[in-house]
Amino acid sequence: MGRLRAAIDRHVPEDLARLLETVPEWFGQPQANAAYVEAARVKETWTVRDEGGTVVGVTLVDRHFPHVLDIHLIVVDRAAHGRGIGTAMLDAIEADARASGVVLLEVKTLGPSDPDPAYARTRRFYESRGFLPLEETNLWGEDDPCLIMVKPLCPRGGRVERVGEEYADG
Ligand SMILES: CC(C)(COP(=O)(O)OP(=O)(O)OC[C@H]1O[C@@H](n2cnc3c(N)ncnc32)[C@H](O)[C@@H]1OP(=O)(O)O)[C@@H](O)C(=O)NCCC(=O)NCCS
Repeated sequence: MGRLRAAIDRHVPEDLARLLETVPEWFGQPQANAAYVEAARVKETWTVRDEGGTVVGVTLVDRHFPHVLDIHLIVVDRAAHGRGIGTAMLDAIEADARASGVVLLEVKTLGPSDPDPAYARTRRFYESRGFLPLEETNLWGEDDPCLIMVKPLCPRGGRVERVGEEYADG
């Protein structure tokens, strides 16, 4: 594959469904996958496409508050793992986030109390891209430990100027 270009894209639920099927070790629950595909119909979507325009990576994004961006889901076609596609999407999202005043990236993934080796790789992926484990919670129930990871995007001057109006309640 030539130079990778990650960019904001239109909604691609069918492409997401296809990519999820390539990685059953991570996305093996039909009901959860159906919910992700529904989410892909409405959530902000970033992709990498190959030379022919086929989607090979998808990231869905939530913006709960103006100062934080949440990586709701990231997946790369199994045939293209390890070629920089996931990194390219995170880099593009981070650059856009910084430009719009976001100071914190967030992602939730299966926590280290679960011995699943596939998710151990996923956590290493996030860690090597600058995400720090913040807290393991039972947000997803007792059987699925949820690790919240964050990546601070230090603003110029090292100081957060303001938080969004939706957050400020004083
Ligand atoms: C995690 C994922 C999005 C990374 O995308 P990618 O394009 O394969 O990653 P990149 O090529 O940019 O980076 C490769 C790095 O990710 C790590 N990695 C994690 N899972 C990997 C996998 N299945 N295949 C290859 N590399 C993987 C590698 O160790 C490598 O780290 P390094 O560069 O520090 O050595 C992708 O592998 C994937 O879709 N995994 C399955 C789904 C998943 O885990 N989603 C997140 C759920 S919370």
